Amino acid sequence: MSRIAILVSGPSRGSNMQAIIEACRDGRIPDSAVVAVVGARDDAPALQKAHALSVPTAVVNPREFPDPDMYGDALLWVLQKAQPDLICLAGYMRLLPAQVVQAYPMRIMNIHPALLPLFGGKGMYGLKVHQAAIDSGMKITGCTVHFVDEGYDTGPIILQRCAPILDDDTPETLAARVLPVEHETYIEAIRLFVQGKLRVEGRRVRVVG
Ligand code: GRF
Repeated sequence: MSRIAILVSGPSRGSNMQAIIEACRDGRIPDSAVVAVVGARDDAPALQKAHALSVPTAVVNPREFPDPDMYGDALLWVLQKAQPDLICLAGYMRLLPAQVVQAYPMRIMNIHPALLPLFGGKGMYGLKVHQAAIDSGMKITGCTVHFVDEGYDTGPIILQRCAPILDDDTPETLAARVLPVEHETYIEAIRLFVQGKLRVEGRRVRVVG
């Protein structure tokens, strides 16, 4: 059985988290279970949702540590206790500490609500991403699931899916169109991972078999 840990941030709603938990339970992600959800604040909506779904939760609040390195050590310790095969970031809106990235090479995924490498990087999260996509004049946007390296949104791309940008879109209407596409794409990427079908070759991720 593949053990999946999910990392969320303070304000995260937890819709991707919930989609992953449900897909593990109904077999769309085969032979897998979400064994821990780690957040930054006990009262975060995503953590409350995880409680309601009977998934074990833990809190590691970066603000409670004197420096980022100590936060990274604490986060790594909590994750290691869960013994994950895969870690999924789902609305984790900060740079993942380097020691965590190094402990799980090509075993950490993130979802971004745009077609990377467009509209990513430091500070590009939430509605800002969708505003930037609208402002660019592009007619399509989408989402990207990628492996996590030590940069912001820079790791090898696993899957991308598109959604149209319509003339009257606001960041809110566009976000609402992209979100269900995110859920499907994340589930598909995790399924391929647990089935051993992803091969990383430099910047490229191939689906085999
Ligand atoms: C999603 O848009 C995801 O792409 C981004 O953060 C958001 C989290 O939303 N990384 P939710 O908490 O999963 O609903």
